[in-house]
Amino acid sequence: MTGGPEAASLAAAGPNRLARMAERVLVTGGAGFIGSHTCVELLAAGWDVTVIDDLSNSSPEALRRVEELAGRSLRFVEGDVLDEAALERAFGDGGCAAVIHFAAKKAVGESCVDPLGYYRTNVAGTISLLRAMRRHDVRRLVFSSSATVYGDPGPGACPLAESAPLRPSNPYGQTKLCVERMLRDLAASEEDWRILSLRYFNPAGAHPSGRIGEDPRGLPENLLPGAMQAAVGRLPELRVFGTDYPTRDGTAIRDYLHVVDVATGHLRALDRLPAVNGCSEYNLGTGRGVTVFEVLEAVKRASGREIPAVLEGRRQGDATEVWADPSLAGRDLDWTAERGLDDICADAWRWQKANPEGYGS
Ligand code: WQD
Repeated sequence: MTGGPEAASLAAAGPNRLARMAERVLVTGGAGFIGSHTCVELLAAGWDVTVIDDLSNSSPEALRRVEELAGRSLRFVEGDVLDEAALERAFGDGGCAAVIHFAAKKAVGESCVDPLGYYRTNVAGTISLLRAMRRHDVRRLVFSSSATVYGDPGPGACPLAESAPLRPSNPYGQTKLCVERMLRDLAASEEDWRILSLRYFNPAGAHPSGRIGEDPRGLPENLLPGAMQAAVGRLPELRVFGTDYPTRDGTAIRDYLHVVDVATGHLRALDRLPAVNGCSEYNLGTGRGVTVFEVLEAVKRASGREIPAVLEGRRQGDATEVWADPSLAGRDLDWTAERGLDDICADAWRWQKANPEGYGS
């Protein structure tokens, strides 16, 4: 695979691509938005990859395109991490060096309506996975956590370090904190567990090739996919939730992080695991907060389109401002975000324009 934007991502793999002994990593939820982008980088860096995914919120087409972008194949097991037999198939006859655990429900609003479903999938599902890891003597794990464990940090609290108070304000965030605490207890009770939990702020964007991206089922809950669908005409308008926040333009502030930067954060975490004793948590963010209106301006720059927007009241549960202090990940994981808001919007627009109906098109 030569030339074109996709080569940039593969070239970023650098010498690791050839130097790494062929080690296998199991990726749960690997067909999803962050999972698929991470699988591209894993394959490019020389990892062998097995994906287990129940396809409840993702498409097998994403995995076909991952293989196309990486120029390598992966192993796919369709199944739920709650299904012990599916996990046995995924671990196969051994050779798995580590697990990256993405598989989870992740919609804040849905979690308020169906908390038991969220605890079942996100907490019980992780227990099922950990038991399978123990059966196969695999004790290296990167866990997909979230900045929602911080809840609403309140005025003046940002940028948020990992030591910030943990006050999730919805069942989704509670399940992520519950798993983080469970992982710490496990690592304290048994030798040899090496676990890193990565707290993502606001992942957004798409692979620069435009071949994989965010493909939410139904109406998008999040700002970037909502703005992109409004720009491409798939949505009649974007609803702006709240213009009376105490911020520079009245709209809420978040730390939008390019999904390829999120993906490379997982590779740095994997590389770090051998040196980890027990369990630690790291923020993945840019360290910069931007407002909703600033995002809409960036979407306009990227798409050349006006975004039909309707200004509405605040969305329940939203915080005024949430952005990261990512310095610990910079120090310990040798990771910092390399892409900014304009890269996010340019790549998300390329994906949206080429795939107006997502993978279904
Ligand atoms: C961002 C801002 C909205 C949509 C959530 C989860 C978090 C993570 C990312 C999983 C807010 C405003 C949004 C819209 C809008 N997911 N907005 N119109 O709520 O910061 O974080 O997604 O880990 O855990 O909590 O992201 O993109 O939904 O909202 O005005 O149509 O955009 O009010 O201010 P959020 P978001």
